Amino acid sequence: MAVIRVLVSGACGSMGGYVCRAVDAAEDMTIAAAVDPAGIGHTLDEYMPELSEEARHLQISGHLAATLQQTSPDVMIDFTAPAVVMSNIEAALNAGAGCVVGTTGFSEIDLKTVQRMCETKGVACLIAPNFSIGANLMMKFAAEAVSSFEYAEIIERHHEHKKDAPSGTAVKTAQMMAEARQRPLSVVPTERHNVEGSRGGTLGNIPIHAVRMPGYVANQEVLLGGQGEILKISHETTSRECFMPGVMLAVRKVQTLSGLTYGLDKLLTK
Ligand SMILES: NC(=O)c1ccc[n+]([C@@H]2O[C@H](COP(=O)([O-])OP(=O)(O)OC[C@H]3O[C@@H](n4cnc5c(N)ncnc54)[C@H](O)[C@@H]3O)[C@@H](O)[C@H]2O)c1
Repeated sequence: MAVIRVLVSGACGSMGGYVCRAVDAAEDMTIAAAVDPAGIGHTLDEYMPELSEEARHLQISGHLAATLQQTSPDVMIDFTAPAVVMSNIEAALNAGAGCVVGTTGFSEIDLKTVQRMCETKGVACLIAPNFSIGANLMMKFAAEAVSSFEYAEIIERHHEHKKDAPSGTAVKTAQMMAEARQRPLSVVPTERHNVEGSRGGTLGNIPIHAVRMPGYVANQEVLLGGQGEILKISHETTSRECFMPGVMLAVRKVQTLSGLTYGLDKLLTK
């Protein structure tokens, strides 16, 4: 069995910790390197003493390009921040490493740039705003149902430390729903806004409302309104572990892909 050598970018972050544990536990993967400026001078065991003997002693690097050169990983997994993710992807593709990216906040222009870089380098990248299998099914069901309703709204709820709003998942859900529908959804204009922004942000005629507070991990509810009825498609996460089966699936598949794949749903249908 060929072992996939994985570089974890953002290893000291909240998601990075789950990624390190999941890669370390997978029989067909090994942590080739861990990169995070927050962990320079430390080893992985200072963050995750439960890791295997081999992974525990890995020094955390702050320099992605140099680490890519030194370790030649097969795949980079990136859960970092919107401000750094584009340069991380560029560095990984330049080094010939396939990319599995969970960092959110990509614009349409960013995605086109990544697509171009993948084509130039002949290396694949998978970006998924949500790696949870359940959340991807929620998006799929919402896109399936939207043609039967006239009104739709999305309420997404996340922990208070989330840096962007609305979530990448909410944006992707609205895009999938707008694409699936032949005609625009209805939105009744509000005559007077007593508080600015009360109706949320609107994408493809779908108002999106973002809640941020402790107690939530990542939840989303899609409301579809028709005459005398509401269909609610709801997804709730109770732990960030929910993202790991999707991340592992992407690591196993990315080297068989080409160009940019956006969304885990593309792998679930294959
Ligand atoms: N796609 C998904 O399923 C999913 C799920 C949860 C979170 N996210 C996203 O993942 C990202 C990270 O989330 P988090 O909660 O782990 O954040 P976090 O702030 O806990 O961790 C981010 C880590 O990245 C590190 N970092 C910063 N710059 C770096 C660089 N240049 N190279 C390497 N590491 C760098 C930071 O030091 C930090 O440790 C966010 O964009 C979040 O929205 C996506």
